[in-house]
Amino acid sequence: MSEANSVIPRPFLPVRPHGDIEEVFPDVFRVPGSINFGLMRFGRNMTVIRQDGGLVLINSVRLDERRLAALDALGEVCHILRIGGWHGADDAFYKDRYGCPVTSVKGQRYFDGFVAEKGNTYFESDHQIDADSELPIEGASLYVIHTTPPEAILRIPAGGGTLITSDALQNWPRADKHFNFLGRVGMTLAGTVKPVTMMKPWVDKYKPPRGEIAGILKLDFDNVLPGHGEAVIGGALEKFRPALEAYAGRA
Ligand SMILES: [Fe+2]
Repeated sequence: MSEANSVIPRPFLPVRPHGDIEEVFPDVFRVPGSINFGLMRFGRNMTVIRQDGGLVLINSVRLDERRLAALDALGEVCHILRIGGWHGADDAFYKDRYGCPVTSVKGQRYFDGFVAEKGNTYFESDHQIDADSELPIEGASLYVIHTTPPEAILRIPAGGGTLITSDALQNWPRADKHFNFLGRVGMTLAGTVKPVTMMKPWVDKYKPPRGEIAGILKLDFDNVLPGHGEAVIGGALEKFRPALEAYAGRA
Protein backbone atom coordinates (compact mmCIF):
# COMPACT_ATOMS: atom_id res chain seq x y z
CA MET A 1 0.00 0.00 0.00
CA SER A 2 1.49 3.39 -0.91
CA GLU A 3 1.91 6.04 1.73
CA ALA A 4 -0.71 8.18 0.01
CA ASN A 5 -3.25 5.41 0.47
CA SER A 6 -2.16 4.25 3.89
CA VAL A 7 -4.67 4.13 6.72
CA ILE A 8 -3.81 6.20 9.75
CA PRO A 9 -6.32 5.30 12.46
CA ARG A 10 -7.59 8.09 14.65
CA PRO A 11 -9.15 7.93 18.10
CA PHE A 12 -12.88 7.28 18.13
CA LEU A 13 -14.93 10.44 18.33
CA PRO A 14 -16.36 11.17 21.77
CA VAL A 15 -20.03 10.76 22.53
CA ARG A 16 -21.93 13.91 21.59
CA PRO A 17 -25.36 14.94 22.86
CA HIS A 18 -28.12 12.76 21.47
CA GLY A 19 -31.58 11.52 22.20
CA ASP A 20 -33.29 8.17 22.66
CA ILE A 21 -33.92 5.56 20.00
CA GLU A 22 -37.31 6.22 18.39
CA GLU A 23 -39.28 3.68 16.37
CA VAL A 24 -40.51 5.39 13.21
CA PHE A 25 -41.97 2.35 11.46
CA PRO A 26 -42.00 -1.27 12.55
CA ASP A 27 -38.34 -2.33 12.68
CA VAL A 28 -37.16 1.11 11.54
CA PHE A 29 -35.64 3.35 14.21
CA ARG A 30 -33.87 6.68 14.34
CA VAL A 31 -31.71 8.44 16.89
CA PRO A 32 -31.39 12.23 16.88
CA GLY A 33 -27.80 13.11 17.66
CA SER A 34 -25.16 15.71 16.94
CA ILE A 35 -21.67 16.27 15.55
CA ASN A 36 -18.99 18.85 16.22
CA PHE A 37 -17.59 20.80 13.30
CA GLY A 38 -14.85 22.99 14.67
CA LEU A 39 -16.50 24.97 17.46
CA MET A 40 -19.96 24.43 16.03
CA ARG A 41 -22.21 21.56 17.04
CA PHE A 42 -25.33 20.71 15.07
CA GLY A 43 -27.78 17.89 14.67
CA ARG A 44 -27.39 14.66 12.74
CA ASN A 45 -29.32 11.42 12.86
CA MET A 46 -28.68 7.70 12.80
CA THR A 47 -31.14 5.26 11.29
CA VAL A 48 -31.35 1.65 12.47
CA ILE A 49 -33.09 -1.09 10.51
CA ARG A 50 -33.92 -4.43 12.06
CA GLN A 51 -34.29 -7.57 10.01
CA ASP A 52 -34.14 -11.20 11.07
CA GLY A 53 -33.16 -10.05 14.55
CA GLY A 54 -30.09 -8.21 13.31
CA LEU A 55 -29.53 -4.46 13.10
CA VAL A 56 -28.10 -2.37 10.28
CA LEU A 57 -26.77 1.06 11.25
CA ILE A 58 -26.89 3.91 8.73
CA ASN A 59 -25.35 7.36 9.32
CA SER A 60 -23.77 6.03 12.51
CA VAL A 61 -23.90 8.18 15.64
CA ARG A 62 -22.00 7.03 18.71
CA LEU A 63 -24.38 6.46 21.61
CA ASP A 64 -23.79 6.66 25.34
CA GLU A 65 -23.76 3.48 27.40
CA ARG A 66 -27.44 3.68 28.30
CA ARG A 67 -28.52 4.06 24.67
CA LEU A 68 -26.05 1.38 23.57
CA ALA A 69 -27.78 -0.97 25.99
CA ALA A 70 -31.10 0.02 24.43
CA LEU A 71 -29.64 -0.61 20.98
CA ASP A 72 -28.42 -4.03 22.06
CA ALA A 73 -31.88 -4.80 23.39
CA LEU A 74 -33.29 -4.28 19.89
CA GLY A 75 -31.02 -6.90 18.34
CA GLU A 76 -27.46 -7.63 17.36
CA VAL A 77 -25.70 -5.04 15.23
CA CYS A 78 -24.70 -7.04 12.16
CA HIS A 79 -23.88 -4.42 9.51
CA ILE A 80 -22.86 -0.80 9.17
CA LEU A 81 -23.80 1.02 5.99
CA ARG A 82 -22.32 4.34 4.98
CA ILE A 83 -24.27 6.25 2.33
CA GLY A 84 -23.01 9.84 2.70
CA GLY A 85 -19.56 11.02 1.73
CA TRP A 86 -19.49 13.29 4.79
CA HIS A 87 -21.13 10.84 7.19
CA GLY A 88 -20.15 7.63 8.98
CA ALA A 89 -17.75 9.33 11.39
CA ASP A 90 -18.60 6.74 14.05
CA ASP A 91 -18.42 3.68 11.79
CA ALA A 92 -14.97 2.80 13.17
CA PHE A 93 -16.35 2.86 16.72
CA TYR A 94 -19.16 0.47 15.84
CA LYS A 95 -16.87 -1.78 13.81
CA ASP A 96 -14.63 -2.07 16.83
CA ARG A 97 -17.53 -2.73 19.19
CA TYR A 98 -19.43 -5.26 17.12
CA GLY A 99 -16.88 -6.63 14.65
CA CYS A 100 -19.45 -6.59 11.86
CA PRO A 101 -18.86 -5.70 8.20
CA VAL A 102 -18.90 -2.10 7.04
CA THR A 103 -20.13 -1.17 3.59
CA SER A 104 -19.63 2.17 1.87
CA VAL A 105 -20.26 3.55 -1.60
CA LYS A 106 -17.57 3.11 -4.24
CA GLY A 107 -15.47 6.26 -4.45
CA GLN A 108 -15.98 7.32 -0.83
CA ARG A 109 -13.13 7.60 1.63
CA TYR A 110 -13.05 7.92 5.40
CA PHE A 111 -11.06 11.12 5.71
CA ASP A 112 -9.88 12.90 8.83
CA GLY A 113 -10.66 16.58 9.28
CA PHE A 114 -12.98 18.74 7.24
CA VAL A 115 -11.69 18.45 3.68
CA ALA A 116 -12.46 15.24 1.81
CA GLU A 117 -9.73 15.81 -0.74
CA LYS A 118 -6.94 16.28 1.79
CA GLY A 119 -7.54 14.52 5.10
CA ASN A 120 -5.76 11.31 6.04
CA THR A 121 -7.63 8.08 5.50
CA TYR A 122 -8.41 6.86 9.02
CA PHE A 123 -10.56 3.82 8.29
CA GLU A 124 -11.59 1.53 5.45
CA SER A 125 -14.83 -0.27 4.77
CA ASP A 126 -15.02 -4.00 4.04
CA HIS A 127 -17.24 -3.65 0.98
CA GLN A 128 -17.78 -0.90 -1.57
CA ILE A 129 -21.05 -0.86 -3.43
CA ASP A 130 -22.85 1.01 -6.18
CA ALA A 131 -26.44 1.19 -7.32
CA ASP A 132 -26.32 -2.31 -8.83
CA SER A 133 -24.81 -4.07 -5.83
CA GLU A 134 -26.58 -6.41 -3.49
CA LEU A 135 -27.51 -4.56 -0.31
CA PRO A 136 -27.48 -5.79 3.28
CA ILE A 137 -31.13 -4.69 3.66
CA GLU A 138 -33.98 -6.70 2.23
CA GLY A 139 -36.09 -4.88 -0.35
CA ALA A 140 -33.84 -1.82 -0.33
CA SER A 141 -32.36 0.00 -3.29
CA LEU A 142 -29.55 2.50 -3.61
CA TYR A 143 -29.64 5.72 -5.61
CA VAL A 144 -26.20 7.15 -6.18
CA ILE A 145 -25.49 10.80 -6.91
CA HIS A 146 -22.17 11.00 -8.70
CA THR A 147 -20.51 13.83 -6.87
CA THR A 148 -16.89 13.45 -5.72
CA PRO A 149 -17.15 11.74 -3.29
CA PRO A 150 -20.45 10.12 -4.28
CA GLU A 151 -23.53 10.54 -2.13
CA ALA A 152 -26.17 7.84 -1.91
CA ILE A 153 -29.81 7.68 -0.91
CA LEU A 154 -31.19 4.43 0.45
CA ARG A 155 -34.80 3.55 -0.31
CA ILE A 156 -36.59 1.02 1.89
CA PRO A 157 -40.17 -0.21 1.46
CA ALA A 158 -41.28 0.78 5.00
CA GLY A 159 -44.18 3.19 5.25
CA GLY A 160 -44.98 2.91 1.55
CA GLY A 161 -41.49 4.02 0.51
CA THR A 162 -38.94 5.75 2.71
CA LEU A 163 -35.71 7.47 1.73
CA ILE A 164 -32.79 7.49 4.12
CA THR A 165 -30.35 10.26 3.29
CA SER A 166 -27.17 11.84 4.59
CA ASP A 167 -26.83 15.29 2.99
CA ALA A 168 -28.81 14.95 -0.23
CA LEU A 169 -32.08 15.71 1.58
CA GLN A 170 -32.42 17.45 4.94
CA ASN A 171 -35.26 18.82 7.04
CA TRP A 172 -34.21 21.49 9.51
CA PRO A 173 -37.25 23.67 10.19
CA ARG A 174 -35.31 25.08 13.15
CA ALA A 175 -31.97 24.80 14.90
CA ASP A 176 -33.01 22.33 17.57
CA LYS A 177 -31.58 21.46 20.97
CA HIS A 178 -28.68 19.52 19.46
CA PHE A 179 -27.14 22.72 18.09
CA ASN A 180 -24.85 24.69 20.36
CA PHE A 181 -24.87 28.47 20.20
CA LEU A 182 -22.15 28.72 17.56
CA GLY A 183 -23.76 25.98 15.50
CA ARG A 184 -27.12 27.74 15.66
CA VAL A 185 -25.66 31.09 14.61
CA GLY A 186 -23.20 29.73 12.06
CA MET A 187 -25.53 27.34 10.29
CA THR A 188 -28.38 29.87 10.28
CA LEU A 189 -26.19 32.60 8.79
CA ALA A 190 -24.92 30.11 6.21
CA GLY A 191 -28.51 29.54 5.09
CA THR A 192 -28.38 25.89 6.10
CA VAL A 193 -31.22 25.73 8.62
CA LYS A 194 -34.11 25.10 6.26
CA PRO A 195 -36.83 22.48 5.94
CA VAL A 196 -37.35 19.96 3.13
CA THR A 197 -34.41 20.82 0.92
CA MET A 198 -30.89 19.71 0.04
CA MET A 199 -27.96 20.38 2.35
CA LYS A 200 -26.65 23.73 1.13
CA PRO A 201 -22.92 23.26 1.89
CA TRP A 202 -23.02 19.92 0.08
CA VAL A 203 -24.75 21.46 -2.95
CA ASP A 204 -22.43 24.47 -3.01
CA LYS A 205 -19.27 22.38 -2.80
CA TYR A 206 -20.10 19.42 -5.01
CA LYS A 207 -22.71 20.82 -7.40
CA PRO A 208 -24.56 17.51 -7.85
CA PRO A 209 -25.68 16.80 -11.42
CA ARG A 210 -29.10 18.35 -11.97
CA GLY A 211 -30.42 15.29 -13.76
CA GLU A 212 -29.56 13.13 -10.77
CA ILE A 213 -31.30 15.53 -8.39
CA ALA A 214 -34.36 15.46 -10.62
CA GLY A 215 -34.12 11.67 -10.46
CA ILE A 216 -34.84 11.72 -6.73
CA LEU A 217 -38.40 12.71 -7.60
CA LYS A 218 -38.85 9.36 -9.35
CA LEU A 219 -37.86 7.23 -6.39
CA ASP A 220 -41.43 6.53 -5.23
CA PHE A 221 -41.36 7.63 -1.61
CA ASP A 222 -43.72 9.03 0.97
CA ASN A 223 -41.27 9.56 3.83
CA VAL A 224 -37.71 10.78 4.38
CA LEU A 225 -35.42 10.01 7.29
CA PRO A 226 -32.73 12.62 6.71
CA GLY A 227 -29.20 12.69 8.04
CA HIS A 228 -29.98 16.15 9.39
CA GLY A 229 -33.23 17.35 10.89
CA GLU A 230 -36.66 15.96 11.57
CA ALA A 231 -38.23 12.94 9.91
CA VAL A 232 -40.73 13.75 7.16
CA ILE A 233 -43.56 11.25 7.48
CA GLY A 234 -46.21 11.34 4.78
CA GLY A 235 -46.33 13.43 1.64
CA ALA A 236 -42.56 13.76 1.50
CA LEU A 237 -42.26 13.66 -2.28
CA GLU A 238 -44.45 16.74 -2.71
CA LYS A 239 -42.81 18.51 0.23
CA PHE A 240 -39.34 18.13 -1.29
CA ARG A 241 -40.45 18.72 -4.87
CA PRO A 242 -40.16 22.55 -4.90
CA ALA A 243 -36.53 22.55 -3.71
CA LEU A 244 -35.50 19.73 -6.01
CA GLU A 245 -37.21 21.22 -9.05
CA ALA A 246 -35.79 24.66 -8.28
CA TYR A 247 -32.29 23.22 -8.45
CA ALA A 248 -32.80 20.68 -11.21
CA GLY A 249 -34.46 23.25 -13.42
CA ARG A 250 -31.67 25.76 -13.13
CA ALA A 251 -29.65 25.82 -16.34
FE1 LIG B 1 -24.17 15.91 6.77
